[in-house]
Amino acid sequence: MNARIIQLPRILDARGNLSFAENLNQIPFEIKRTYWLYDVPGGEGRGGHAYRENEEFVIALSGSFDVVLDDGTQKQTFQLNRSYYGLYIPKGIWREMVNFSTNSLALEFGSTPYSQEEYIRDYEEFLKLKRDGKL
Ligand code: TYD
Repeated sequence: MNARIIQLPRILDARGNLSFAENLNQIPFEIKRTYWLYDVPGGEGRGGHAYRENEEFVIALSGSFDVVLDDGTQKQTFQLNRSYYGLYIPKGIWREMVNFSTNSLALEFGSTPYSQEEYIRDYEEFLKLKRDGKL
């Protein structure tokens, strides 16, 4: 489904490690937006939806969570538990984020500004759009 983990550079240092991600480099699209999820209760889940155009890049800055991706035919689960891994999610993928650990912090970059119209929140509608080749 073309979703993939991208390992970010790690500058290891006794004073504390450093990682980074650049526009159109480690992040394979032009960043138009960033947002983060925090104070998520342990074991909670978020994000049952697909985007029409928005691509995403997700980093677990702290703690861990699982991202379950579904392209309409197959499902794949990615566990994010290191701050130097990014998950690239192409557009048109149903995505859920589950099993947040207590005090986890999810940083997300998007390729489009926020828009309600970008969202497909109904799974059956998602499957139909996929079947009809409209997504
Ligand atoms: P939503 O994407 O529905 O979160 P989740 O799928 O994880 O439950 O967003 C929750 C609310 O936040 C929704 O009312 C829209 C708002 N929001 C913005 O205003 N801008 C953003 O960039 C995002 C991601 C959400």
